[in-house]
Amino acid sequence: MTAPRLLLAIETSCDETSAAVISGARILSNPVSSQIQLHAEYGGVVPELAAREHLRNLMPVVQTALREAGVTAAQLDAVAATQGPGLPLALLVGFKSAQALAFVLQKPFVGVNHHEAHLYSPWIAGSPPAADFAAFEPNVSLIVSGGHTMLVHVAGELQHRVLGATLDDAAGECFDKAGKLMGLPYPAGPEIDRLAQAGNPQAFDFPRPLMHDANDDFSFSGLKTSVRYFLRDHPELLGDARHICDLCASVQAAIIEVLVTKTLRATKRLGLRCVTASGGVTCNRALRQALAQACAARGYKLRLAERSLCTDNAAMIGILAERKLARQAPLPVLDEDIRTAWALA
Ligand code: KG4
Ligand code: ZN
Repeated sequence: MTAPRLLLAIETSCDETSAAVISGARILSNPVSSQIQLHAEYGGVVPELAAREHLRNLMPVVQTALREAGVTAAQLDAVAATQGPGLPLALLVGFKSAQALAFVLQKPFVGVNHHEAHLYSPWIAGSPPAADFAAFEPNVSLIVSGGHTMLVHVAGELQHRVLGATLDDAAGECFDKAGKLMGLPYPAGPEIDRLAQAGNPQAFDFPRPLMHDANDDFSFSGLKTSVRYFLRDHPELLGDARHICDLCASVQAAIIEVLVTKTLRATKRLGLRCVTASGGVTCNRALRQALAQACAARGYKLRLAERSLCTDNAAMIGILAERKLARQAPLPVLDEDIRTAWALA
């Protein structure tokens, strides 16, 4: 039997610089350098700063990935990178660097769709981590982060169809904007998660947009606006720590109920028995718990991405790239460019 291919994957689509070395289904290394601190000062990701930071961090992160995997660049059999969607300048840094490396090494190069890669992260498990494809089942996958919120029917490896997506704000954006209105630092999602633990989710009644609509789309800007008007009319609530915890729990409950209801409804409608979830918001404890309870009640299998793999990382890019290389011929290395608005089919 020949040894599995050694593949280096690079991810720079937003504010995480990551590189991973993949050997078949195994993840040999997956360092991630987050820029959250840098952007916190500005209350959101600043594209120009993100690109500069990727430029500064990419080579050290690649060196760390190679060192932790115990391989040299010359031993690589293939190189992959996120091709889109994402911030143009940020994508360019990782994609063009990966192309250049593949060109110099004269090895196959593969560009992958960032959203498609998210579909693979829930299947990465264990220590040392590996993609557990033996456990794969057709599923409905919830991708939920600061930049995206979508439901995807994953019928098989490399076979998927987008069922619905957000019409406006992503769920993570809603967490962040609602938190900002409450005076919480960016990104507010983790802080709301923490404060909500001491709050009453039924204290305040916020809307559940599109929850009962017969489609798989989401909309969160109305919820954010209702938080804005509610706080305008009740500014005194922000002066009390207990009320802030209640606000966090109530906003979080509204977001989670919509996400869980629509995910489970799509799964039932399609006759599937497996739900998966990934993206930064999947770190949320109440969401993980609500999905676990809803799936257990229906006898569905649930695969949540491990916390460290919920946010953007190169391991998921590499696992997808490896499956692609196993099935289809690589593209001519210099012919491809970034695809900033590459929609998943
Ligand atoms: O996947 P990610 O790191 O980046 C992209 O947006 O692509 O996701 C970041 C988002 C932010 O909106 C952040 O507030 C949210 O995920 N987030 C959370 C939690 N951890 C991160 N939202 C709610 N609860 C959390 N524990
Ligand atoms: Zn992502």
